[in-house]
Order: sequence, then C-alpha cells, then structure tokens
Amino acid sequence: MPEPSIPEYRVHVDQLRPGVFVRLEKTDWFSHPFLYSSFKINEEQQIEAIRLLGITEVICIPEKSEVLPGQPGENKRSSPSPDNPAEIMERLWSVKKERVAQLLEKRRRIAECEVRYADSVKTLLPITQRLLSGNPEALAEALAFVRKLTDSFLGDAESILHLMNVMPATEQVYSHSLNVTVLAMMLGKAAGLSSVDMDDLGMGALFHDIGKERIEKKLLKKRGTLTRPERDAIERHVLYGVDIMSGHAAFSAASLAVVAQHHENMDGSGYPEGRADKQITRLARMTAIANAYDFLSNHPDPAQVQTPYLALSLMFSQQKTLYDRESLALFIRCLGVYPPGTVVQLSNGTIGMVMSVNPESQLYPCVVIYDPQIPKREALIVDLAEDPDLKVEKSIRLAHLPQEILGYLSPRTRMTYYVDPEA
Ligand SMILES: [Fe+2]
Repeated sequence: MPEPSIPEYRVHVDQLRPGVFVRLEKTDWFSHPFLYSSFKINEEQQIEAIRLLGITEVICIPEKSEVLPGQPGENKRSSPSPDNPAEIMERLWSVKKERVAQLLEKRRRIAECEVRYADSVKTLLPITQRLLSGNPEALAEALAFVRKLTDSFLGDAESILHLMNVMPATEQVYSHSLNVTVLAMMLGKAAGLSSVDMDDLGMGALFHDIGKERIEKKLLKKRGTLTRPERDAIERHVLYGVDIMSGHAAFSAASLAVVAQHHENMDGSGYPEGRADKQITRLARMTAIANAYDFLSNHPDPAQVQTPYLALSLMFSQQKTLYDRESLALFIRCLGVYPPGTVVQLSNGTIGMVMSVNPESQLYPCVVIYDPQIPKREALIVDLAEDPDLKVEKSIRLAHLPQEILGYLSPRTRMTYYVDPEA
C-alpha cells in the first residue's frame, strides 16, 4: 500500500492500471456507466470505458490505491482493445441500470413508510385525546394500532427500521411515544417475546408518558437546569400516568407496570419508587432503554442532543448500571454500531448517512451517499448488504462536516424511526 500521505493528483488515462483508485471529475453520475464516481480500477476494461467516455484525465487517490499510476505514456494503448467497445459499455451499463432500478424501489419503499408513519402520528393524536376524556373505545383503537405493529414485527417478513423525516414541533410528544413504542417493540422482537407480550409492551410504551398531559407545557419545554421543585413536578408524570391508565379496565397490568416503572433504574437510582433489578418488570426494563435512547438522541435541549452513535455509546459506558444488561446488548445489536441517522465514512472514502437498518443484519445498513455530482433529491442509496466491497469505516461527528455535506445529507433535527414490515 503506497504512503497514505501522498495527496491526490490528476493523471492521464494512459497512466491508469488495475489497483489505482480514481475519481471521475465533472462527469454526471447518470452519464457514466460506473456505480460510483470514485472507485478502484479492477480491470483493464474499466480503463477502456473511461477512454470511451472521452475522458482524458482523472483524479488519482493514492491513499486508497493498491498501486500508483504508471509514468505518462507508460500504459498507452498501442493496439485497439481486444474487446468490442460497445460490449464493454453495454456490460457496465446493464449492471448500473439494475442498480438504478433497485435505488428507485428503495426510494418508493421509504416514501411509503413515511406516509404510513405520518398517518400513524395523525391517528395517535385523536386516540390520546379521546382516552384522556374517558372514551372507552379509544383503548380498543390504540390496541388495534399496536396489533398492526406487532404483526409487522412478528410477521414472516423482516422488519427494517427506517429513519423518517422531521416532524412538526407540535407532534413531538406523539413522535416520542411512537419512537419509544417502535424501538421497544424492535427490542421485544429480538428478545423473542410472544405476541401477547408484544401487545402489552407496545401499549405500555405508547402511553408511558401520558401523565405529561397533566403537566404544564411551559415546564415541560423549559431549557437548562431545573430546580428541585420543578424536577419533582415533572417526575410526577409517572404517577399521573398510572392514575389515568388505571381508569381503563382493558389496559393490562403488564402495560400499567410499564407506565409505572419506565423511569426506574436497575441500580435503584430511578423514580418514583427506586426499584432495582427484578423488581422492575422485563417489559418496563425494555421500555426504559428505548425511552433513554430517544431522550438522548432527541434531547429537548438542542445543545444536548447526541448523535445516535454517541447516544448508544453513552448508554453502554457511563450509564450502563442504569439498564438491564442483556436487553441493552440486544438493543445495540438491533440498531447496529451505526444506528439510522449516523453520518459515516465508507471504505471507498465517500460520506453518507445511515437511513435504515435491518436488525437481523445490522452490519449492512442502507446509506444515502453524498455526491456533489448527483442532485440531492436523486441521491444514491447504497445497500451495503448488496455491495460486499463496501463497508462502514467510522462514524463522523456532525461538527466535523463541511456545511455543504451537512446540507446535502440534511441530518435530522429529530431522529424518528418507523418500521417497514414488507421488505
Ligand atoms: Fe417519562
């Protein structure tokens, strides 16, 4: 491997050979037959294809190359290529066309998932209001809603966790409930819960914070350090929640325990009762993890928001005594080291943002790629499961990203997740 410190430089196409990592300049992604605008040359035919595109110079990236380009003129083609130029291009284009079709399909699925997510948030709003006014039908509607999620998770198809678009501020409280529900149920599925337990978990998670409806909005939105009386007032949402939900006979005892114990910690440092270990129900321990993760990655104070990657790291290091170890390990295994919303650098040097993860193969997430040559709305989405040559190299802190890349990838101000059951 050549010295990593050699800066990239421009080379003539005649200097290229297999093993050189190149970037095509000023070439629209749709007008060349390569899968990426930056790639390592694997075969002579790729060099021939670059020539056929009329390109005379490319950028060589020594850091990613196995060999350096030859001297000017060294590899100059003296006789016509043994392959038919039309055949070379046709072969490359057919692979790329297949990839474009997959990309369009992926985009369609994400769009569908976003519609279903928006519908869900819309459904939850009136259900919660009816529940608060004591309407008994509201609980049955909520259960029907949760059953759909249980079916999504426990059905034959794999359930893929997608990152959704930003929600308007007014719906934040519902998107928090929905996030916690989806994440807790993802964990429940991984833990092998029965469908009855999944329903109980979903219902408990959906209404875990319903007691906040009795707390002054101004206090809930307050930024900065809270006084002890203010903290006490907010912590009372747990008791209010139990009060509200115990009025609904159809709300199960297991779900009620989730509402009552979602702020209890394994080391006994939580509230309201300071329960520890097995004194906290399994479903409540799962919900506490989903709740903490959503709180950290969607912190009400923007200055304290953690990237999904850092939120998981924090829970696993500094906060690990608070959570059920087994469930936390499972949660991390489901979300992957790089959860949706994480900005990452891939092994070919490109930068992207993780859009979705399949909890059963979380090492291969779908990543939307930053490529200034492709309009943002047509950005490439790469499924790492379908591209064995590519892998995630590291996560990148948003503060280290140039504004241009930030704008292109538009990392979410809120991380909201939903599940795609049909993939
Ligand atoms: Fe809460």
